[in-house]
Amino acid sequence: MSALEITASLSYIVASCLFIVGLKMLSSPASARRGNLVSALGMLIAVVATLVAQGMDYHWILVGATLGALAGAFAALRVPMTSMPEFVALFNGFGGIASLLVGWAEYHRSLSLGAEIPFAAALPIYLAILIGGVTFTGSMIAYAKLAERIDGKPTLFSGQQIVNAAILLGVAVCLVAFLAAPAGPYAYWCVGFAIGLSFILGVLATIPIGGADMPVVISLLNSYSGLAACAAGFVINNTVLIVSGALVGASGIILTNIMCKAMNRSLPHVLFSGFGAAAAKTGAVYEGEVNPITPEDAYYMLEAAQSVVFVPGYGMAVAQAQHVVRELGELLEKNGADVKYAIHPVAGRMPGHMNVLLAEANVPYEQLVEMDDINPRLDTVDVAVVIGANDVVNPAAREQEDSPIYGMPIINVDHARTVFVLKRSMRAGFAGVDNPLFFKENTRMLFGDAKQSISALIAEFKTA
Ligand code: TAP
Repeated sequence: MSALEITASLSYIVASCLFIVGLKMLSSPASARRGNLVSALGMLIAVVATLVAQGMDYHWILVGATLGALAGAFAALRVPMTSMPEFVALFNGFGGIASLLVGWAEYHRSLSLGAEIPFAAALPIYLAILIGGVTFTGSMIAYAKLAERIDGKPTLFSGQQIVNAAILLGVAVCLVAFLAAPAGPYAYWCVGFAIGLSFILGVLATIPIGGADMPVVISLLNSYSGLAACAAGFVINNTVLIVSGALVGASGIILTNIMCKAMNRSLPHVLFSGFGAAAAKTGAVYEGEVNPITPEDAYYMLEAAQSVVFVPGYGMAVAQAQHVVRELGELLEKNGADVKYAIHPVAGRMPGHMNVLLAEANVPYEQLVEMDDINPRLDTVDVAVVIGANDVVNPAAREQEDSPIYGMPIINVDHARTVFVLKRSMRAGFAGVDNPLFFKENTRMLFGDAKQSISALIAEFKTA
């Protein structure tokens, strides 16, 4: 082993350690930003070590890296915070297609060398192509659903399971034929066919999932992109890519498990049940009186409250209300109230969405309380302020057995003495399910854009 190779191997170990430490730091809002930087440093070391050790011609790499960096920076600067979830889904898909291309390019290179392709090289090539293709088209569908370019509801058609089974059979047949003779006359067609099947499989595996189950599919696709990168690492024999891919794959699976628990569903149930397709049939229509409230009246109740819990949801992200929410929280605290922020694991449109927004607004971490910890305390809370949240506070999930979201744990805001719901209309949330919370006796609807409503409350406090 040359000194250069030894240095590269050591750099890979350092980079892998930095990835692991960075991941660990991501698990707490207090250290998440530094965790991101630590992981990015690990990636920089890995890239530099690879380029130096391989003694490559940098011209094309530099062109690619510059174009990629420009496109990424341009997109990241332009994308509004509200579009971040679909942006993340898009980038996840690019990771998948990159792994597919690595597998495909390496296969071509091996063919052009005219050498035998051993089993240990052929299997990762096939897996990188297959998982990369599924991740790519699956993520594109997730992107389109989150960006509301296609209907977010599950799409089911008769015979869907049979079509899926036939595709899986085709994938397996291609795999066997390819592995039997990777450099043989039919292998090229098998790989091409597998690419086509993987694209179709990615679409068909994602369209039946929708509504409130989307968090599960997003974390699962995240895991697939890691597995595809891991396979690509085996293809090009790069240790650090294998390690980082395995870390993303494993953390994605853990996140998927957390999301399934948050939804109180099993993974097979999410993947095969077509959640929400029945929403239109079973969704109850609630009748009763809705009690609107003005900011002035809401102020009087808040001013007298001893304890206030904010429950943010996707609408807070849309309204970009996190800064004014923090300001109102501070005013309430000055007024002597105990203030907490209750976080539902699937609130918003991406894992940790609410944590990111509240951290951006410098809400103290110790005021963030998870769903399981806040629920037992809600009976003693004077006012729960729901800011653009809907599905995650919908009591139908607890009470109404025929509801499509029945069984999903929610933040029991209706147990608080008074509930303010800040939203613009009576429209349903992401899952498309009506919400009986709006008709409860202790609920007051503060209609309007969340940022404007909270600003009006702040103005009341300041002029009082
Ligand atoms: P949703 O149920 O989607 O409800 C958001 C509410 O915000 C809407 O009812 C909307 O009502 C209101 N809103 C929108 N813009 C607003 C504004 N400017 N001011 C005030 N209100 C506004 O949100 P949630 O309770 O956070 O639940 C999240 C849902 O998304 C769940 O079903 C979850 O499964 C799903 N999902 C989550 C993820 C992840 S990973 N977190 C990913 C994909 C999907 P109006 O239109 O009447 O204002």
